[in-house]
Amino acid sequence: VSDPRTLSKSIMSQQSIGQSVFGGAFTTPLMILKDTAVSNNLERMSRYLQDRDASIAPHVKTAMAPVLFTRQLNAGAWALTAATISQTRVLHEHGVKRILLANQLVNPAAIRWVANRVANSRFEFMCFVDSVSGVRILEQIGEGVAFDVLLEVGALGGRTGVRSLDEALAVAAAATESKSVRLVGVAGYEGSIAGRGADRDRVVREYLENMKDVAVRLSEHGFFDGLEEVVVTAGGSMYFDYVVDILGSPWSLATPTRLVLRCGSYITYDSGRYLSSSPFADRVEEYGPPEAALELWATVQSRPEPTLAFMDFGRRDVPFDDGLPVAVAGRTQERQGLTVDGLVVRDLNDQHAFVSLPADHPLQVGDTVGFGVRHPCTAFDKWRQLPIVNDDYIVLDLIETRF
Ligand SMILES: Cc1ncc(COP(=O)(O)O)c(C=O)c1O
Repeated sequence: VSDPRTLSKSIMSQQSIGQSVFGGAFTTPLMILKDTAVSNNLERMSRYLQDRDASIAPHVKTAMAPVLFTRQLNAGAWALTAATISQTRVLHEHGVKRILLANQLVNPAAIRWVANRVANSRFEFMCFVDSVSGVRILEQIGEGVAFDVLLEVGALGGRTGVRSLDEALAVAAAATESKSVRLVGVAGYEGSIAGRGADRDRVVREYLENMKDVAVRLSEHGFFDGLEEVVVTAGGSMYFDYVVDILGSPWSLATPTRLVLRCGSYITYDSGRYLSSSPFADRVEEYGPPEAALELWATVQSRPEPTLAFMDFGRRDVPFDDGLPVAVAGRTQERQGLTVDGLVVRDLNDQHAFVSLPADHPLQVGDTVGFGVRHPCTAFDKWRQLPIVNDDYIVLDLIETRF
């Protein structure tokens, strides 16, 4: 007997809209997004930015979901940030008019694609540079198009970005000499240098102070002369308050500055580090706490030992690079609430989750459990579609991802 309305990970349709996630049509595992959490997260950030006179170019790599980046634009985003040219193309396809590529642009095919779009459409594009070679490559391949670039400031032992003021001055000089490159500001990413040590707040603050120093020195050398505004951009979801403290107004440059944060994870957070490390969790409390928006629902398929159960999800379905999922809610087969105290995901295979539990836990084969994920940025790429649900778990829309 077949049920034509069965909705699965690989086959979901508009028929799911209006249905309950628990109504019997959906198969598990199922990753869902909670609409109220997404709205509150967006609204909280908008209020914060308005109060601090800062802009945001949300990093879309987290979700790569047109419905969500449209919501971010509607919430007042100044631009959208991409990490790759492929992500940039998806944004461009969706009519996004100002894109910040938070990366170096050095691949010839990518440079030609950008040059063509900048020359032929109303499209503002900015990317990072951190070397004289990078400037030269843009010049040689860019077919006369003027690229707006941000000088990326790095840190010793960190990721991309210049390591010294001398290097910054050399790259800025190369950009200024070149007709194909216009230096429009400075960029950095404190998240990649913060590390996990107890001194990470100090490391981040020192890095941001150094970024500010570089911007001031570039300005003193006249590298920003003639600009309407200098773009200063940094700030993921964990330290944006420090970014605003240090790189927000007031500046003493001859040219006005625009501070642009690039938070990505803030749209959903997670049930781990991204939630607990958000400035909204403790340092900036007046806007309300951050809310985890992602949940994975799965079914108990086996309890072969008293203290071991298996759920029907695995590494194909959830992030596993920053901790394993955490059980947040349970439902019996009779749709009654079920405690998830004591359930711990201890390992994942491709399509199985190993769950440890107390021998006297009432969990049975056939029960369903909701899990919060850890690390939002590696959650969405495992799903082509995710239902977005209201507080009663009724599907409001299907979110497509475009990785
Ligand atoms: C360059 C850059 N900017 C911004 C972000 C966004 O940070 P978060 O995921 O903490 O929001 C990232 C994340 O990896 C990044 O690499």
